[in-house]
Amino acid sequence: MLSTSKNYFFKKPLFLANPHGWIPHIPFAFFLVETMKPSVIVELGTFSGNSYFAFCQSVRDLQLQTKCFAVDTWQGDIHVGSYDNEVFKRVNEINEIEFKSFSELMQMQFDDAIHHFSNGSIDVLHIDGTHTYDAVKNDFTTWLPKVSKGGIILLHDTMVRKKDFGVWKFLKEIKKQHLVLEFPFSEGLALVCKDEHTLPAILDFIRMAQRDPSVITLFEILGENILLEREKTLLKEDVLKMRKKTAQLNKQLLDKKKEAKRLKRKI
Ligand SMILES: C[S@@+](CC[C@H](N)C(=O)[O-])C[C@H]1O[C@@H](n2cnc3c(N)ncnc32)[C@H](O)[C@@H]1O
Repeated sequence: MLSTSKNYFFKKPLFLANPHGWIPHIPFAFFLVETMKPSVIVELGTFSGNSYFAFCQSVRDLQLQTKCFAVDTWQGDIHVGSYDNEVFKRVNEINEIEFKSFSELMQMQFDDAIHHFSNGSIDVLHIDGTHTYDAVKNDFTTWLPKVSKGGIILLHDTMVRKKDFGVWKFLKEIKKQHLVLEFPFSEGLALVCKDEHTLPAILDFIRMAQRDPSVITLFEILGENILLEREKTLLKEDVLKMRKKTAQLNKQLLDKKKEAKRLKRKI
């Protein structure tokens, strides 16, 4: 069905962490990198790295010449809240050990990082920072000139309607000027084409997915499987911890019973 792909999108991601919101979209991230073979990928909003390391893993596995950049203050925002420096430390450690040769972490504000990129230089721009309407609009409009001819912008959280999340509203507006394909499951991801020069293989994929909804369903099932496996692993770890704790408590109980018997005899 996806003839341009050698099925790399069936791969398992290696570097998962909480939060899990992006996990169901990882198979599509793999597919996009395999199909586009971008020269430059920039991510705005990396947090614990589920999306970013999916891009990096595919670049490494497919032996591409892609350069990857992750921009984040690693301090959190109004939606994810603030988190401690352990998050950055883990992301930095993985990056240093696994992807250092082609991947750079830029710990700074998006508005500062923008000056490090020349116009038309980014082939895949993933926007996943603060999710208010104004923030997403600002990230999209300020960074759009940096995206290359035929480049792709990914917007995450297109399905979230709670509180002041406004990606859905912004997406509705830009659909008038840009070709868009939405993955309307989990928290939602949208692929937005910058202009009319989108790669033919990506255009074919969009047309196919528009004709046949089972294409989107395939990515949904693959993504949900990864999420379920991750949840199963975490549950197994919890069960092991609880078994260990139960064994400790049982031992303490036995010791106390022995002590009680000894005291009773004494009395
Ligand atoms: C939703 S999280 C990113 C989730 C991530 N892509 C994943 O796969 O789980 C948003 C991140 O964007 C960062 N952020 C938000 N606004 C920012 C800004 N203006 N400059 C730099 N970082 C920002 C926050 O620190 C936070 O870590």
